[in-house]
Amino acid sequence: MSTLFQPYTLRDVTIPNRVWMPPMCQYSAAPEGPAAGAPGDWHFAHYAARAAGGTGLIVVEATAVSPEGRISPYDLGIWNDTQVEAFRRITRFLVSQGTVPAVQLAHAGRKASTERPWKGGAPVGPDAHGWRPAAPSAIPFDERHPVPDELSLDRIREIVGQFRAAARRALAAGFEIAEIHGAHGYLINEFLSPHSNHRTDAYGGSYENRTRFALEVVDAVREEWPDDKPLFFRISATEWLEEHGWTPDDTVRFASELHAHGIDLLDVSTGGNASGVRIPTGPGYQVPFAARVRAETPMPVAAVGLITDAEQAEKIVANGEADAVLLGRELLRNPSWARHAARELGGEVHVPDQYHRSV
Ligand SMILES: Cc1cc2nc3c(=O)[nH]c(=O)nc-3n(C[C@H](O)[C@H](O)[C@H](O)COP(=O)(O)O)c2cc1C
Repeated sequence: MSTLFQPYTLRDVTIPNRVWMPPMCQYSAAPEGPAAGAPGDWHFAHYAARAAGGTGLIVVEATAVSPEGRISPYDLGIWNDTQVEAFRRITRFLVSQGTVPAVQLAHAGRKASTERPWKGGAPVGPDAHGWRPAAPSAIPFDERHPVPDELSLDRIREIVGQFRAAARRALAAGFEIAEIHGAHGYLINEFLSPHSNHRTDAYGGSYENRTRFALEVVDAVREEWPDDKPLFFRISATEWLEEHGWTPDDTVRFASELHAHGIDLLDVSTGGNASGVRIPTGPGYQVPFAARVRAETPMPVAAVGLITDAEQAEKIVANGEADAVLLGRELLRNPSWARHAARELGGEVHVPDQYHRSV
């Protein structure tokens, strides 16, 4: 009996299986105008195909809480009601396929305002729909990036409010789960790490001060997000730095605190905040970080990173290394991965009536 295809319940939401899609930016929204940041035809087709393919839960890509919080001018956003209406079309379809719709709420901090990756990904200014990024400290990500503005206390308060408003809108858009993006060197991660946070006020210095902004965001979002719906947090469990970085020990400590603040599952990734580090990638290379959190804290976890094979995914869940797996690039290659894996492992998965002859 496959464990991968057992349902999983958090709060009052039951996810039909443990094959989930992680957030993956499509950089395909309008950069300006009335539809700026709103999902369009590409997003609908992209998410719809993975839902029809039997994916249990889809985390819609990094969706900015404000225009300045976008990684690129082409990112999705959830700061106005036009965007909410456009997201409804996607959440409605996902629910019709039995897929749980989730959304990653994000602010890109010092890594904001860049060109789309397939155009080189370089930082862009106002002449290419860009803006000046802001961060905990005036330290650029690397020599290519501009020096960001150091956020004032007022701006920090304002961004916490933007996360709160984004959560309210995500709920109105029909999402069942919200994920706070605390990973990959974006704003929340920048506050957590002593590598990027050199503040001397209440938001920098000690571990308690560096985690303050993240917990304020979590508390604000949790207040908006109904008690019967789960909240996820994505973390970079390590920065892959030898010293002066956020560490796996910090992650374990923080996981317990996040759990106490109402986070229901930690989505465990790594890296993205320090440039030029060597990351030893390979099949399932981030799974041990997730497994450690699950073993040492009350926090449920999802594992991500080069999980591509049905047996591999089954083992991760069956061995108790993670409660679920997220498949990114593999789901880009094969939208029906869950259906194929279910057949291989003897599990049950939703198949659209229209495709019954393909079972
Ligand atoms: C095209 C693309 C876009 C991505 N966008 C995001 C994102 O919006 N938010 C995020 O947290 N991670 C993002 N990621 C990282 C993925 O969620 C995932 O963690 C990573 O691809 C590793 O998993 P994989 O080996 O299964 O692809 C992105 C990855 C890809 C390939």
